[in-house]
Amino acid sequence: MSINVLVTGAGGAAGVAVIRSLLRRADLTVFAADMDGWASGLYLVPAAQRRIVPPGAGSDFVPALAALVEADSLDLVISTVDVELITLSERREELAPAVLAAPCADTLNYALDKLSLARQCESTGLVPRTEAAGADANRVDWEFPVFAKPRRGAGSRGVRVVPDRAALEALPLDEDLIVQDLLPGEEYSVDVISDTTQHVIAAVPRTRTRVDSGVSIAGRTVHDPELEEAATRIAEAIGLVGVANVQLRRNRQGKAVLLEVNPRFPGALPLTIAAGVDIPSLVVDLFLGKSMPERLEFRELATVRFLEDVFIDPAEVLVSEHAAHQDD
Ligand SMILES: Nc1ncnc2c1ncn2[C@@H]1O[C@H](COP(=O)(O)OP(=O)(O)O)[C@@H](O)[C@H]1O
Ligand SMILES: [Mg+2]
Repeated sequence: MSINVLVTGAGGAAGVAVIRSLLRRADLTVFAADMDGWASGLYLVPAAQRRIVPPGAGSDFVPALAALVEADSLDLVISTVDVELITLSERREELAPAVLAAPCADTLNYALDKLSLARQCESTGLVPRTEAAGADANRVDWEFPVFAKPRRGAGSRGVRVVPDRAALEALPLDEDLIVQDLLPGEEYSVDVISDTTQHVIAAVPRTRTRVDSGVSIAGRTVHDPELEEAATRIAEAIGLVGVANVQLRRNRQGKAVLLEVNPRFPGALPLTIAAGVDIPSLVVDLFLGKSMPERLEFRELATVRFLEDVFIDPAEVLVSEHAAHQDD
């Protein structure tokens, strides 16, 4: 009997990568969902398996998914969308009997709040000094310049270099900023998957050599035990079960330390899959309770990326009330 899996966020790079990975498995029937009828990933699956859902931030989102669980006899729900994750994780029992393939709410909350993430991971010794802007930050004898960013930011919005103490003391207090040691070195994204005992199965570091509108479009995987070890320690510190993307950056001494954690499938997933770690497929097995490998290795591989045109009958395009998020 086939296992029915729903993947949300079918219009995003991560959603497309997850759908493509799962379509390679003969034991799965893949349903694709998005709030926008023009979401490209919908058209990777047969017409009978395409679903329009309400926006993830709305109050009708979880009930709508629960209705799909019932109607489509879903076994597993995979969300690839940031705004959906915390709500789904907190209300996962409403999706029963389907299982939500996402980390627990505590893990997601650490990732959503860069100050609590820094505190939670402090004992790893892999966290740059981080303080709330204002009195806490002003009291520190920083080496300038320092870096400031929103405590709950995303997509590099609101980030800034703070050149000196006068600029530090002039930081606006209404933007909920944190102040951090400046990390001037190279930046890495490490795709991590942990099993149900929070044991890390794979940590695949990659560079983001070219980024277009926040999306990595070229890069390579790198074998670097320091990066793999650092990402593993961070994943353990936040109790990760499932997938997360741990971002690291080298400090003034050249040591790789924590920038932030994105607790979801990254858009650059195809590189990690091609390098030998098929994270979506592993996540399915993990949340279905199958036995997991102890450790998976990857190979060094580079990637470039281009858009691909897919043509469909205009009558096939699903009608939706909502358009995709424009800023992703
Ligand atoms: N402490 C820091 N030192 C130097 N650059 C930083 C620092 N923190 C963040 N950045 C830069 O800002 C970008 C966004 O920061 P990040 O912590 O990843 O938040 P988000 O991606 O959620 O906006 C990073 O990719 C990095 O280029
Ligand atoms: Mg980031």
